[in-house]
Amino acid sequence: MTISHLLTHPCKNMEASLVREVLHYSQQPDILSLAGGLPDERFMPAYPDLNALVDSRQYGASEGENSLRDHVVSIVAGRGLTTAADNVLITNGSQQGLDIVSRLILDSDSTILTEQPTYLAACQVFKLQGAKVQDVVSDAQGMSLEALREAIDLYNPKAVYLIPNFQNPAGHCYSIQRRKEIAALLDEKNVLLIEDDPYRELCYEEVDLTPISSLVKTAPWLYMGSFSKVLWPGLRTGYVVSCAVFTSYLIKVKQASDLHTNRLGQAMISHFLSSGAYPAHVAKLQEAYRQKRDAMMAALNTHLGDLVEFTVPSGGMFFWVKLPSGLSSKLILEEALKEKVLVLPGIPFFPCKSPLEDSFLRLSFARVSPDDINKAVAVLAKVIKRLIV
Ligand SMILES: Cc1ncc(COP(=O)(O)O)c(C=O)c1O
Repeated sequence: MTISHLLTHPCKNMEASLVREVLHYSQQPDILSLAGGLPDERFMPAYPDLNALVDSRQYGASEGENSLRDHVVSIVAGRGLTTAADNVLITNGSQQGLDIVSRLILDSDSTILTEQPTYLAACQVFKLQGAKVQDVVSDAQGMSLEALREAIDLYNPKAVYLIPNFQNPAGHCYSIQRRKEIAALLDEKNVLLIEDDPYRELCYEEVDLTPISSLVKTAPWLYMGSFSKVLWPGLRTGYVVSCAVFTSYLIKVKQASDLHTNRLGQAMISHFLSSGAYPAHVAKLQEAYRQKRDAMMAALNTHLGDLVEFTVPSGGMFFWVKLPSGLSSKLILEEALKEKVLVLPGIPFFPCKSPLEDSFLRLSFARVSPDDINKAVAVLAKVIKRLIV
């Protein structure tokens, strides 16, 4: 049976996901995986006693539970973003935030600008709307200001999508200077900012994390957060905070999508936040992930120091490793897999074709022990050295 005549144009054009193919290997027990972006379940708190939670059996509000929306108001206030609960939408993870926002603003002739490289599943959502995704050169300080100005003038984009803190996949954290410059440019050009901030609590150094949304003065903005990287990703709970003009539209799209986010998950997260245990939990996470980050830095320096290029991320879960020139990331994936180590080629993180796309690996240190990180990087080094000669 063929169904292609039934599919929308964007669905017909959906590419096979390299990531899905790769991640299916990570289920095998004998594989050491540096590929996924999954948090370590050993640091996830136990679920609260369900009997202690408010009754969540009935349908709820599309915008989310008020108790959790109030918590989000205080959380983002602590980051310098002042808002009211009315402007908070609770979503099924920030992935759904991206989907709702895309449905709201992207037509098939729209362009959205992203960093290069950028979070691949955001591009999937944008492309599903039929929109054109245009990447903009980015460096360790963030998206290049000159390139952004040029791209805005050239493409007249609907929005700019940024992950300023511990970016997925490159690990970059924007300097405060770049944050201010980008905010000023978006104000000048009146372009919508979509700021995605799921990693900010996984912070291992003193760095500035000011939301760019708090720096724009006149441009519209949408800010997304998530509980996935710090609490329980399986509960699929995140949020969109918006400038007030978006609020009623976001709620209507959410209503049409799934009526509301599941109430039990929201209640569990609210309960944990109300218990007062959150700050100590985040401190524990930071310490544990910092050790893993340091283990990966040491392993890369020891086994591959003179062969690959990387910057040490000051937070998040990823090293973005540039391979020796001429080496293919896909070939390394295949060869390392024969030795039971799984790595993720950088290719799907480039939304537009780039001569660089096959030259990077994204290595995650989050879910593997420091010993296993060392073992996996040693194997990777052996494979790379073998392929060079
Ligand atoms: C940059 C970025 N945005 C959004 C998400 C989606 O997160 P959530 O689990 O909240 O849907 C991820 C997940 O890896 C991510 O890396």
